[in-house]
Amino acid sequence: MGVPKIALIGGGQIGGVLAQLFVTRRLGDVVIFDITQDMPSGKALDIAEASRIDGFDSKINGTNDYKDIAGADIVVVTAGVPRKPGMSRDDLLATNAKIISGVAENIKTYAPNAVVIVISNPLDAMVTLVQKATGFPPSRVIGQAGVLDSSRFASFIAWELGVSVKDVNAPVLGGHGDTMVPLIRYANVYGIPVLELLTRKYKDTKKASEVLEAIIARTRDAGGEVVRLLKTGSAFYSPASAAVQMAEAVIRDEKRVLPVCARLAGEFGVTGYYAGVLAALGKGGAEKILEFDLNAEEKAMFNNSLDAVKKLVEDMGRLGF
Ligand code: APR
Repeated sequence: MGVPKIALIGGGQIGGVLAQLFVTRRLGDVVIFDITQDMPSGKALDIAEASRIDGFDSKINGTNDYKDIAGADIVVVTAGVPRKPGMSRDDLLATNAKIISGVAENIKTYAPNAVVIVISNPLDAMVTLVQKATGFPPSRVIGQAGVLDSSRFASFIAWELGVSVKDVNAPVLGGHGDTMVPLIRYANVYGIPVLELLTRKYKDTKKASEVLEAIIARTRDAGGEVVRLLKTGSAFYSPASAAVQMAEAVIRDEKRVLPVCARLAGEFGVTGYYAGVLAALGKGGAEKILEFDLNAEEKAMFNNSLDAVKKLVEDMGRLGF
């Protein structure tokens, strides 16, 4: 690959941060597409004019013409509307499905070989729609949810235990909604289970469990917590960081294992649906899904989450998508 070409579909709050992160991390040349007249060109110019300061030579342009995304290696989709206080991600379904089906047609036409990372909500439905409408191999269409949900889970654990978040692994699987599945049993600090560390801290198993339950509840509601504070939109710095980590793994063919929304083909007993799982990301997208044993409780939570994803996909079908 020469210089990778990264197309951002949607130049709003997340799109703008994505653009800046991609060029400042020197991951490739960036094109920001948006339907709002001139706005993406304004954002691109603003970011480009800091190139001397941030020390990048990457090209960055904004456009209202899909032709400019031609031949993109990576496409990150944030087109659509974000939620407002009181809304769930699922409330965005009808509006964003209409937008995303149009976006997918254009990706299929202009960037037929791209790996596509979808961020628009409701994520599990939107990523399903992009794969269906493009007809791309499922491994090349993935969704961003788990990297952020897991980062939120890890951050809350690190703050509680007073350790560096870099040493915390805390996977969140399942759908990207209220039924997401934080895997307590696998949450650890340098391999030591978090529950054991909390029990030692509080010298009380009941208290330790309560603290962990509160962390899990905060993780499930973390997006909503930000929406309630912002009042005008939803989280945008952290989703952008999460998608850039995924894109970097693809661009550099790293085979990094990250929690992503990928289409299952029998893993965890599920076929044909997208859900949050651990996958190795490389130049082919989600190249390998890591399957492992879930205990009865985890399996029940995962299936419950999958039921929510299935319902969302059915609702989308009823809307004609
Ligand atoms: N094609 C391209 N861009 C579009 C289209 C379209 N058909 N329709 C809307 N957009 C653009 C808007 O013009 C806007 O600039 O999508 C952008 C969305 O940006 P914001 O409203 O700032 O939303 P953001 O916070 O970036 O979130 C985008 O990601 O996390 C999800 O729930 C969130 O669905 C939302 C999406």
